[in-house]
Amino acid sequence: MVKSLNRVDALKEEAFEKKGFDGFLVTNEKSLLYFTSCPGLAGLLIPKVGENTVYVYSTNYEQAKAEAHGFNVEMLKRGEDLMAKIGAEVKTAKIKKLAVDALSYDSYHSLAKCLKGKTKLKARGELVWELRRVKDENEIMFMKKAGELADVGIKVAYEVIRPGIKEIEAAAEIEYAMRREGSWGTAFESIVASGARSAFPHGGCSEREIENGDLVVVDIGAAYQHYCSDITRTLVAGRASEKQKKLYEIVKEAQERAFQAIKPKAKAKDVDAIARKVIADAGYGGYFVHGLGHGIGLDVHEQPTINSQSKDKLMIGNVVTDEPGIYLVGFGGVRIEDTVLVQKRHGDRLTKSPYSLETRQ
Ligand code: CO
Ligand code: CO
Repeated sequence: MVKSLNRVDALKEEAFEKKGFDGFLVTNEKSLLYFTSCPGLAGLLIPKVGENTVYVYSTNYEQAKAEAHGFNVEMLKRGEDLMAKIGAEVKTAKIKKLAVDALSYDSYHSLAKCLKGKTKLKARGELVWELRRVKDENEIMFMKKAGELADVGIKVAYEVIRPGIKEIEAAAEIEYAMRREGSWGTAFESIVASGARSAFPHGGCSEREIENGDLVVVDIGAAYQHYCSDITRTLVAGRASEKQKKLYEIVKEAQERAFQAIKPKAKAKDVDAIARKVIADAGYGGYFVHGLGHGIGLDVHEQPTINSQSKDKLMIGNVVTDEPGIYLVGFGGVRIEDTVLVQKRHGDRLTKSPYSLETRQ
């Protein structure tokens, strides 16, 4: 497949022509998928000269042969050590300076042992991230679809969340609807956190029965062609109180202002600061307990990062979340999140669900 090889070529250009390496070893699961479009691989060795080889255990060998187009496929026999096999190929290919993306401590040491100091090993995972953080047309198409599927889930959330339904039951309805519409799975474990539990940013789902007047944070994502979406809406089961409405308006304002600031060349920390200022000015600065957002793609949390410490700058093709929140322990929480694509002049929401605190009766 031409698409996959273009990504490999882009890495070769960066790592070999510009940085002077003569081999690259990829082992991060999602990065393997990124370069080969084939799931279930154990490794990919890209030499400066010669064939690109994927390594795969026997379970996934046939799939790799069928789907890893343009790659030489090597099967690991039972008991065969991945690093020993890759190390042998590194020697055969006479690679002198090998970049690696994400080796575990153990793998690094066993590979280094095989190479006996004859090949230099350097961690250069950032070279892969420079590619992955800028989505191409295909990826954007998949992420748009993942966004639409998440919107289906949110629509169902507004339909089913009523006093008396359990959090896990609501999650089941949401996930079922996304699946029926074509989701490959959920991008992460769905959050339907109600009442006091909505004040836990990662509250998950429990068997708690939702009560009249509860705030309910619904944070869900679909997956399409392995790409993720991420959306949060907060709603009230029944009528919202004045305080709930006030919190909601503050978070909505913070989310919209940050959205307006999402554009190429914007500093991620400045975008975070815009949302944070809206919440702080309203008197809730201490209750926005996480960063504004994160990059998203094959991984649900990836680069670039949008928080006060981030050194990232946004660029065309980044896909990020915009998700401010206020969490009051014992009272409840409000978070509003969309997945946003950075375009030439502005951001485009890939999740487009309406914003409403009260469910339609
Ligand atoms: Co989320
Ligand atoms: Co998120």
